[in-house]
Amino acid sequence: MPKFVITGGAKLSGQIAVCGAKNSALKIIPAAILSEEPITIKNLPNIEDVDRSLELLESLGASVTRFKGGVTINTKKIKTTELDQKMADKFRGSIMFVGVMLARFGQVKFPHPGGCVIGAGGRPIDLFIEGYKAFGAEIEEDHGHFYNIKAKKLKPANYFFPLVSVTATESMLMTASIIPGKTILKNCAMEPEIEALAEYLNKQGAKIKGAGSPTIIIEGNKKLKAGIFNVIPDRIETGSFAILAAAANSEIKITKCNPEHIMTLLEIFKKIGVNFETGKDWIQIKKSGKLLAHDIKTHEYPGFATDLQSPYVVLMTQVHGSSMIHETIYDRRLIWTDMLSQMGANITMCDPHRILVQGPTKLHGKHLMSPDLRAGIALVIAGLIADGVTEIDNIYQIDRGYEQLEARLQKIGANIKRID
Ligand code: EPU
Repeated sequence: MPKFVITGGAKLSGQIAVCGAKNSALKIIPAAILSEEPITIKNLPNIEDVDRSLELLESLGASVTRFKGGVTINTKKIKTTELDQKMADKFRGSIMFVGVMLARFGQVKFPHPGGCVIGAGGRPIDLFIEGYKAFGAEIEEDHGHFYNIKAKKLKPANYFFPLVSVTATESMLMTASIIPGKTILKNCAMEPEIEALAEYLNKQGAKIKGAGSPTIIIEGNKKLKAGIFNVIPDRIETGSFAILAAAANSEIKITKCNPEHIMTLLEIFKKIGVNFETGKDWIQIKKSGKLLAHDIKTHEYPGFATDLQSPYVVLMTQVHGSSMIHETIYDRRLIWTDMLSQMGANITMCDPHRILVQGPTKLHGKHLMSPDLRAGIALVIAGLIADGVTEIDNIYQIDRGYEQLEARLQKIGANIKRID
């Protein structure tokens, strides 16, 4: 199994470009099922989760033609309505195929999706199930392992999400876009990827208003046209690189990004003393003086992203004072910090949702394993600023979401190698 070997302390400087957003690409790929016409996706990140998503699409009978930086998809000849269990099991993004298959074919059979183990009970899908029922679908469930969803005739829905969920909002939005009539979704998630998805579907002929706000209104349109989509920059990658630069106290320019999408983090940077400048599509992190601790509480967008919690914890080990990190979205997303403690961080686990980080502490190289994608990037950042050598196993978890990470980090001076 490949691993990263990092020798910490190398001087970092220069420019690093951000790739297309994983969590946008993983919705646009299945959205291709909504139209029988070809869809071209550009600025597609070359990552494992995108490969898995395209493989799943091909296994259904769609044609997938990859080119440098993108793909053209044609779903006209889809031949089955059953998602391959082994494939869907590999990644959480497989749930994004369900609503679109239901909307186009009136039925879909699928297993409980796999992916990062960061939530209690293996990451529930109850909100999706409730949502599809609101469209008139009937659901047979085999002890939570397999679901068979059917609808004689789908109808528009008036649905209030009992809990704010990014992918459930996106799935309902996509499903409704080809169900004739008016669907009203309330208490929706507001992430930029949702707005991007709606903009794209509107270009294809959908009529979606309010995406990016808590209420989304969709006038379903049975036929969507061909489309071209440019994947928006990955805001989590943007934030992770910005945090790396701040933690290493290095001058790094992050390009091809949208600073607007990480405003919450940048506001905190101002408070804790990180020097930076922003332009329309770049962020220049500069050298800073003494940095100060600052508490965070993860929250749905535009609050502090749970996906940035782990890199932020690494930053807090380098600043002066104590910071309380409160993870409110997932139940098991602080467990990884035990590894940071093994590297020398002073972290007290208060309860499963809160840790107290006391800084600054010197980190030391260790042999570790990446438990999931976001903890993985945090361990890479920790390794880059630590003394000595850090080895990170199970980097499939990092490859799921970060394209050619080591090559991009090497360009800014990092001493990181992939060992097969
Ligand atoms: N939840 C339920 N029932 C559901 C769905 C979600 O209880 O049916 C709970 C979750 O367990 C969690 C909360 O609702 O406690 C919010 O989860 P949400 O549904 O918003 O997360 P998601 O849509 O599954 C997306 C991203 C995650 C990101 C979250 C929060 C994708 C493919 N995934 O997940 O990204 O952490 O939103 O922003 O878009 C990652 O990229 O590493 C990642 C985990």
